[in-house]
Amino acid sequence: MQAPTLILNASQEDHIREAVSLLRSNGVVALPTETVYGLAANAFSTLAVQKIFKAKLRPQNNPLIWHTYNQESARSLFNFSRFNETSKRRFNLLSQAFWPGPLTMVAQKSSIVGLHVNLDTIAVRVPRSEVTRQILRLLDIPLVMPSANISSRPSPTCSNHVLKTLGGRIDAVVDAGVCEVGIESTVVRIDQEDLRILRPGAISATMLEKILGEPAFDTYKSTGVLESPGMAFKHYAPRVDRVILIKPHELETYWHTNSSLVACTSDLVQSERAFKKRSKKALTIALADDPELFAANIYDALYKAEECPHESLVLVLPQKAWDASLDQENVWAAVFDRLRRSAGYKS
Ligand code: TXA
Ligand code: MG
Repeated sequence: MQAPTLILNASQEDHIREAVSLLRSNGVVALPTETVYGLAANAFSTLAVQKIFKAKLRPQNNPLIWHTYNQESARSLFNFSRFNETSKRRFNLLSQAFWPGPLTMVAQKSSIVGLHVNLDTIAVRVPRSEVTRQILRLLDIPLVMPSANISSRPSPTCSNHVLKTLGGRIDAVVDAGVCEVGIESTVVRIDQEDLRILRPGAISATMLEKILGEPAFDTYKSTGVLESPGMAFKHYAPRVDRVILIKPHELETYWHTNSSLVACTSDLVQSERAFKKRSKKALTIALADDPELFAANIYDALYKAEECPHESLVLVLPQKAWDASLDQENVWAAVFDRLRRSAGYKS
């Protein structure tokens, strides 16, 4: 796309109408959600959907999540009448408990969906952002929305991040400030024998289990099989030569390297000062020890770090992030999953 990207304000009605009109005429517009900003297009328009793949340089075989404004419109995208009782129960309970919110459900698609990236399943989510739900309601058509970044780069949690990688490549961005969750939704497959987590997120296995009374399995961790195509691609990579993930006690080793540092936990404050003394230009970003706050700020830290003229980025994660499992009711496991990928680790 050639024209500059329009910046629209979420609190102005005429700007919202402009976003709706662009989406109606097959445009691509970045919209806020509580997880990350998404790049939206009319899900039923092949032309509009192809613009997303082009703008993001997204591999064609990575399917998109469909977004709707309520449970009913989401249900109509699934082949719900052919679901067995367990799958119906899962859909009903999970949508009541977590929608609108950071949960995506995957199951057999309805025939109204048509051929979507050659899969017989569809991924659906009802986002929490008021403005985005208002846009969905006004349009009354589902929107596909991958994260609004060039593929392989960190996901955007504010409109500036969107413009950094997609500025000039998309029609508009609706600015509604900073996303509160900060990492992408938990993706679950609901129509198989076991409830499966295809991508970890803010909604943990334990939270799912509490609602359903059955265990939730992380298929990748337990079988090594990637059931979500997107999990196989390079992800969340800032523009630095190397991302190194370390534990707090390993920090001294890296004082000597020409690195930027993103540190978290309060006991690192001392070490962080020492790090800075070593290299006047070192960028140090201290993030909160609290996992939810850490998650909300980590992509912003990655974008800031790549502006610093250092070859490598050292990410210090507290021991509890290394030890985290999906069974915990916090997002350390999901954050760790993202940063492992960001550092290019294979397992
Ligand atoms: O929080 C989110 O989910 C954000 C916001 C914008 O809603 N969206 C997002 O989309 O993260 P994206 O495209 O970056 O990631 C979608 C993930 C990919 O890993 C993709 O492979 C998976 O969902 N996915 C989509 N459809 C699927 C399907 N039918 N079966 C399995 N995985 C699917
Ligand atoms: Mg993405």
